Amino acid sequence: MSFPQVRMRRLRRTPALRNILNSVKLQPSDLIYPIFVDENAKKPIPIKTMPGISRLPLNEVTNDVRQAMEQDVKAVILFGIPAKKDEIGSGAFANDGIVQKAIHKLKDEFGDELVVIADICLCEYTNHGHCGSLKDGEVQNDQTLEILQKIAVSQANAGSDIAAPSAMMDGQVESIREALDDSGFDQNAIMAYSAKYASSFYGPFRDAADSTPKFGSRKSYQMSWGNQKEAMREIELDINEGADIVMVKPALAYMDIISLAKTKFNVPIAAYNVSGEYAMIKAAAQNGWIDEKTAVLEVLTGMKRAGANLIITYFAKEVKAWLNHI
Ligand code: PBG
Repeated sequence: MSFPQVRMRRLRRTPALRNILNSVKLQPSDLIYPIFVDENAKKPIPIKTMPGISRLPLNEVTNDVRQAMEQDVKAVILFGIPAKKDEIGSGAFANDGIVQKAIHKLKDEFGDELVVIADICLCEYTNHGHCGSLKDGEVQNDQTLEILQKIAVSQANAGSDIAAPSAMMDGQVESIREALDDSGFDQNAIMAYSAKYASSFYGPFRDAADSTPKFGSRKSYQMSWGNQKEAMREIELDINEGADIVMVKPALAYMDIISLAKTKFNVPIAAYNVSGEYAMIKAAAQNGWIDEKTAVLEVLTGMKRAGANLIITYFAKEVKAWLNHI
């Protein structure tokens, strides 16, 4: 009988051996923590479909962010829920809009210790729930671009570091780059939601932001599941239009897209571990069907292994403590 010469198990024998040999290491500094600021909220309003996450009133935002920073998470992405929604989503670009106020507050409190990213979209602000302005029930690309420009400038005026356009309008990165530059914000970066698929995994987010489209779907602007090359084209266009960071969203069902993008392009890649991916793990864990901590660390490490440099995740505040316990 011949015995194996190569024994892979030698390097898996102890936790210390396994630890020094892991080539991909998840760190809290890889993470971006999403926050919902609600102009109507008087106190945190728990989101049913996202256990552990709430819509926050303005005066709770700094506290929540401080907790994240204590867990070594130094970047947040802000989403706003305005007091009133209207046809064109004017709450999104109001200088005293809820996100603009939150940016001010965070920058007053934390300055450059914190990276403040602001999502740029209309669906949380329009009464019809679409990501752009409408004409005859159709989302108008170029009119929407003008609104996105106004949002970007108002958020930059409030002090944001990174603009994150997520409306999936053609030319949105170029328009926003131009508007920022014209207003003296040439140092503000753009993290583009480049490959954003029309996903059922956004359901809980839409509960949170009350942003489900009142009719139709987002399929005429968000990408179709079946396409891979189209994602590379979206990413390439965004890089050419001036994106500093590109994003793949959602993450779990699109690991191939993250991986391809990593081999093809030389810009930082962000993966969005979206609300439905969060909800699935929470629900299974609450039923005792899965171990939450290890499942989350495995999933987030997988996204890094696929090629993500940054991960937007609702689990961000937990990761440091969990890493210390495995
Ligand atoms: C805005 C936006 C959405 C998400 C991030 N930005 C919702 C959507 O496109 O319907 C979803 C994030 C998540 O599910 O966690 N367009």
